[in-house]
Amino acid sequence: MRTQVGIVGAGPAGLLLSHLLHLRGIDSVVIETRSRDYVEKRVRAGVLEQGTVDTLVATGLGDRLLQEGLVHHGIELRFGGRPHRIAFDRLVPGRAITVYGQQEVVKDLIAARLAAGGQILFEVSDVVPQDISAAHPAISFTRRGERHRLDCDFIAGCDGFHGVCRQAIPDGVLTVFDREYPFGWLGVLADVPPSSPELIYAHSDRGFALHSMRSPSLSRFYLQVSPDEDVAKWPDERFWDELRARLETVPGWHLRAGPVLEKIMAPMRSFVAEPMRYGRLYLAGDAAHIVPPTGAKGLNLAAFDVGVLTEGLAAWYADGSTELLDGYSDTCLRRVWRVQHFSWWMTTLLHTFDDQDGYDRRLQQSHLEYVCSSEAAATSLAENYVGLAHV
Ligand code: APR
Ligand code: PHB
Repeated sequence: MRTQVGIVGAGPAGLLLSHLLHLRGIDSVVIETRSRDYVEKRVRAGVLEQGTVDTLVATGLGDRLLQEGLVHHGIELRFGGRPHRIAFDRLVPGRAITVYGQQEVVKDLIAARLAAGGQILFEVSDVVPQDISAAHPAISFTRRGERHRLDCDFIAGCDGFHGVCRQAIPDGVLTVFDREYPFGWLGVLADVPPSSPELIYAHSDRGFALHSMRSPSLSRFYLQVSPDEDVAKWPDERFWDELRARLETVPGWHLRAGPVLEKIMAPMRSFVAEPMRYGRLYLAGDAAHIVPPTGAKGLNLAAFDVGVLTEGLAAWYADGSTELLDGYSDTCLRRVWRVQHFSWWMTTLLHTFDDQDGYDRRLQQSHLEYVCSSEAAATSLAENYVGLAHV
């Protein structure tokens, strides 16, 4: 088997890369260990930055997104018994976010690739990137009991945090930076209309809570809990009680409860591996970096990476120039670190920490008040949240 770019992983990064390359006349094959059904149903966040929406719409993936996506011009920060709106429409005019399940993006991408004759090989196993520092790398894998070898010019490691591509890079090449947070998120999808028109990021002494949504009839909620919390210990009743205690802090505001469709634990981690390239292997998305979900940046960052990689590969195939490919890692890492900082900052601002003393709590309180009362501080949050245009 042969292709130009062998892509490991059919998450948002791998699928979007395959789609963008196709539009530039470059062939790829996507190799995925899971089934199509699993990949399409995996729980993901629900916020798309303006730039991500622009890319999806410009490349023909806007049909359902523009119809079903909910455009939001602000978010609420809730603390101290009051709502505080961060108004994107005033602070960063012309830029907004779109609330659209990221797994819907995955479904749209798979449909588009298959309709265009693209190859996505699901349910493969024992994937091994080979000869990654040579001019002719390959990916070997098992499919339906048979061993295959996919020869290619480049390998894109889009196989997420637990994938094999990053591990294939020799010891000593990568520098790794990481941070584990002393909490996780318990997430619930509920068959009930949202209780507010916009997302609510709520800070309270009991911990952080998030009110989000998927559609006018589906709500999505998250609660800060211990990192190793057992979902089974959260029967629906307990979840709603705790959510009410953290969200119903504003007089007259009530949470609408409804049937719970799904309950999951989401880990909270920050991670970066540098550089994002070794020889002919390019890492993109979660394979190279992870952010906590507080800023909902995971998919947006992955989309940025593969946009940069597409330009580099297109230049190489057009005239053999390596300038853009050589700059891939540095270009991506500039945005990665901006988003690392923003996601860490939002997380630190809004969560409670067991080891916080009175001084820490006063600082946090002051910081929250500053963000909501200073035009400059609110603009900083807003421009990072909708996605910086210039990094
Ligand atoms: N071989 C092939 N595929 C693999 C392998 C392997 N050895 N290991 C993992 N995969 C697949 C996973 O099954 C998954 O489908 O790679 C894919 C990686 O997808 P994600 O983990 O979603 O990573 P990425 O595409 O970088 O997603 C970026 O989108 O929705 C957000 O939170 C999500 O932050 C993430 C972001
Ligand atoms: C979600 O809707 O799943 C969501 C929204 C915002 C976040 C994280 C997750 O910051």
